[in-house]
Amino acid sequence: MAKSVLTVKKLDYQVADRTLFKSLELDLASGSSVAITGPSGSGKSTLLSCIMGLIRPPGGTVHVDGTDIAGLRGAALARHRSAHIGMVFQFGELLPELSPRDNVALAALLAGMDRRTAYTKAKELLSELGVPDAVSSEELSGGERQRTAVARALVNAPALLLADEPTGALDAGTRERVADILFAMPGRYACGLLVVTHDPEVAARADRVLTLADAALVPAGSR
Ligand SMILES: Nc1ncnc2c1ncn2[C@@H]1O[C@H](COP(=O)(O)OP(=O)(O)OP(=O)(O)O)[C@@H](O)[C@H]1O
Ligand SMILES: [Mg+2]
Repeated sequence: MAKSVLTVKKLDYQVADRTLFKSLELDLASGSSVAITGPSGSGKSTLLSCIMGLIRPPGGTVHVDGTDIAGLRGAALARHRSAHIGMVFQFGELLPELSPRDNVALAALLAGMDRRTAYTKAKELLSELGVPDAVSSEELSGGERQRTAVARALVNAPALLLADEPTGALDAGTRERVADILFAMPGRYACGLLVVTHDPEVAARADRVLTLADAALVPAGSR
């Protein structure tokens, strides 16, 4: 049976006077994908922050690749995150003055990989994802930047791949290409993939589609 790479149990979280999560549950197995949809402001990005350990919710537990992240602090938490989680943000969030290869290798160096392996892996991933060599990543197109961000998220072979609106800023063709790449990852690298998206066509590619509504995750279309 596939192991669980993410288990969220009884998660509670409030901002100001709003309850974003009430006893929220989520489980993701290695080699599988889940899409999370939901209205703007419902808490999707906040959920990713809880999973990355950037927010410490007052109730519930989050296990990433078998580790309860509430037990980790500071450098240990950052180390665990860079070793086990790959994150793709909506706008790529690359360091613009660095080359695509530097951007990808940097993530590996920060996780403790040696320089030579980091640059070799960065080169391999970028060529596999069809990103051209460039002096700085600001020379790349939006789709190329997004694929660079996917390469960066994959360089440490994470158990858990998170993506927040990874195709939000792309045209239809590029969106399909980036979605193809992302959804191939669980089968290819046996990671778990969690994609937050407003795009129903992107969501439909996932093994399961959940909606964040009334502070919990429910199967999409069930309400
Ligand atoms: N630190 C904070 N203090 C107060 N409110 C916050 C804080 N962080 C987030 N919020 C609020 O929590 C709600 C959820 O925000 P979040 O960014 O998770 O939504 P989202 O579902 O990702 O929305 P979108 O689809 O627009 O990206 C929003 O109403 C936001 O204003
Ligand atoms: Mg968001």
